[in-house]
Amino acid sequence: MAYCINGGRALSGEVSAQGSKNAALPILFACMAVRGRVLLSHLPAISDIEKTKALLSEFGAVFESTEEGLLVDTTYIHPAVASPSHTGATRASSYLLGVGLGCFGEVRLSPSGGCNLGKRPLDIHKGALEALGALWQEEEGSIHLYASRLSGRRVRLPYRSVGATVNLLLAALFAEGRTDIYNYAREGHIRELLRFLRAVGAEVAETPTRLTVWGKRPLHSAAFRVSGDEIEAATYLMGGVATGGRVRVSGISPEGLFPLLHTLGKMGVKVETEKDAVAVLARGRLYGTDVVCRPHPGFPTDLHPQMSVLLALSETGGSVRDTVFPDRFGYADALAKMGGAYRRRGSTIRLFPSVLRGAAVAAPDLRAGAALTIAALAAEGRTLLEGEAFIGRGYESFAEKWQSLGGDITLLPSAPPSP
Ligand code: EPU
Repeated sequence: MAYCINGGRALSGEVSAQGSKNAALPILFACMAVRGRVLLSHLPAISDIEKTKALLSEFGAVFESTEEGLLVDTTYIHPAVASPSHTGATRASSYLLGVGLGCFGEVRLSPSGGCNLGKRPLDIHKGALEALGALWQEEEGSIHLYASRLSGRRVRLPYRSVGATVNLLLAALFAEGRTDIYNYAREGHIRELLRFLRAVGAEVAETPTRLTVWGKRPLHSAAFRVSGDEIEAATYLMGGVATGGRVRVSGISPEGLFPLLHTLGKMGVKVETEKDAVAVLARGRLYGTDVVCRPHPGFPTDLHPQMSVLLALSETGGSVRDTVFPDRFGYADALAKMGGAYRRRGSTIRLFPSVLRGAAVAAPDLRAGAALTIAALAAEGRTLLEGEAFIGRGYESFAEKWQSLGGDITLLPSAPPSP
């Protein structure tokens, strides 16, 4: 399948944000710790959620879709070895390490999947779980992790890894005593996981420097609504900017989007915020800037490819340095095929002012797919974009949402000949 996109129309209108992908995924794994029934609403309708459900089903989790949301029943979960096709389907499958260890005292994990953004080792996860008393063995890429008991400790992560913070939080729920986590990831989806854990009865506290989990608290059923997806919301806002239009996204708190909104302001975009919505209005001239992607509260790496497109469309060009995924440049060649001029040095890409035109390109990963769509909507002529499966991992109703903003984009059953 491929998207057929006719560019050159200013986008205008409003969309509402889907539920946050990167919050919903760890929350689904955290349901295993509850061993009861949890009602999750506002889950995004994306393939990563379906793949996670399939994986958790292997451990006895039962899912029922209701009008109110997804009912997750983990009452009868049991140890299992997840099939490699399930663990290899998402990066989030690595959250089995923390929660599986806690639930069963032992877990085996074949290599996790996820987008190819360069190296994605698990050494920080390993150090964190070993600190609680786990024994970690690796053979041919598969991990065998076990512990007769977990003990709360003071753990300082060497880097603010999102995944390692999730795994440590989940394992700490089962540890004797108190676990203090320093240098933890502060992304909005980690806050959302903490909100979920509190809703099911976990005792977790956050100070500016430390997360504390008191283990072995009884967890209970709850109903929980997942908040809006910041990266999805930002993608539509950036589409509005790229096409010189006006886009409003509702169901999203502006707070989490601050690094983007601040940058867009510097680029000459008018930004309006409300309690639960953000609007952007392009003002004719788009100036370039230099952006550095860092862990939260830095500029998010998940908006790096989209920002590169805006910089290519800007009057002065600019650069993106990605300190989180220093090799996240899978989109660059496709952007060049559309006329985007760039030069890469190490983890930095410099974009030069360019006129984008339609081309036949393929998305190499999820956010690259979003960025190339923005480029295509802003470009002259027609783009055929392959890689729908990547985009479907993280964006629900992707074509429909762009269409509702006036974008000329259609998902074709198979790619027609190049224009
Ligand atoms: N890292 C290590 N060792 C580790 C863990 C991480 O070296 O043990 C490195 C990674 O290789 C990477 C950096 O640290 O260079 C950041 O990794 P992190 O663990 O923070 O990211 P992640 O948990 O693998 C999540 C999101 C990503 C998002 C990053 C950064 C999920 C399922 N994935 O990945 O989301 O880019 O945090 O914010 O939550 C996406 O949604 O498109 C996506 C890729």
